[in-house]
Amino acid sequence: MSIGTITPDFSGSTVLVTGGAQGIGYEIASYFLFAGARVAVFDHDKTRLDEAWGGVEHVHLSAVDVSDGNAVRTAVDEVVAWAGGIDTAVNNAGIARDAVVWKLTDEQWDSVLAVHATGTFTVTRSVVPHMRAAGAGRIINVTSYTGMHGNVGQSNYAAAKGGIIAFTKSVAKEVARFGITCNAISPNASTAMVAAVPPDKLAEMTASVPAGRFAEASEMAPAVGFLASQQAAYVTGIVLPVDGGVSM
Ligand SMILES: NC(=O)c1ccc[n+]([C@@H]2O[C@H](COP(=O)([O-])OP(=O)(O)OC[C@H]3O[C@@H](n4cnc5c(N)ncnc54)[C@H](O)[C@@H]3O)[C@@H](O)[C@H]2O)c1
Repeated sequence: MSIGTITPDFSGSTVLVTGGAQGIGYEIASYFLFAGARVAVFDHDKTRLDEAWGGVEHVHLSAVDVSDGNAVRTAVDEVVAWAGGIDTAVNNAGIARDAVVWKLTDEQWDSVLAVHATGTFTVTRSVVPHMRAAGAGRIINVTSYTGMHGNVGQSNYAAAKGGIIAFTKSVAKEVARFGITCNAISPNASTAMVAAVPPDKLAEMTASVPAGRFAEASEMAPAVGFLASQQAAYVTGIVLPVDGGVSM
């Protein structure tokens, strides 16, 4: 789907997107590249990262696991050395490891909390000093309907995504006086993560969408573009659903 006739202009900006090797993160990174930004893409899957982005101009790649705070700090410093700063950070990397709570393993719990909650924290902690030095910045986190309303088989994911909402609001309060905003989007898009849902459950999920369909991943990007824009300077601490009405 086309993003429409209004071409946003992010030339001169540097945007960091985590989990940008595929899915929603890939589309967000593509959107900003198309809009003239330099784009840094973090993903732990080096093969997929290189397949998706290898050789693309104005793109900096880091094969990094966002739950590793030291690796993230180094990777963020490399982006700053490459681009001179970071204007926008999009914390999008995610995984799902579903099971009802009485069957949930330590590994399923820890890995989901590590990627979503810890990963959102490590990147935010590392980019804020650079944004403070610049006197401006945009942090955009990716949460979920499940983080607000819960879901069967996803208590780990719900805890992580609910945590991201509370984190978003706390950080928004901490950084507002430095010209930095911190917001979240709550997507609903057809990606590999959704394709992994069992068919009967997926049919039920699709039926619950007022718009009657899952979005294309590319339909998430313009909402992120708005939150990253100068026009959104007075918007902070919100969760913007881009979900066809699911969260109504
Ligand atoms: N697709 C949806 O409908 C939907 C709904 C609500 C929320 N979300 C959220 O949107 C985000 C993107 O989801 P998606 O559907 O595009 O999923 P996806 O599985 O297609 O992409 C996720 C990306 O994150 C990367 N990743 C995973 N663990 C990582 C780590 N430790 N470090 C760095 N990168 C890592 C993966 O390699 C992959 O490229 C996730 O945070 C997800 O929870 C998606």
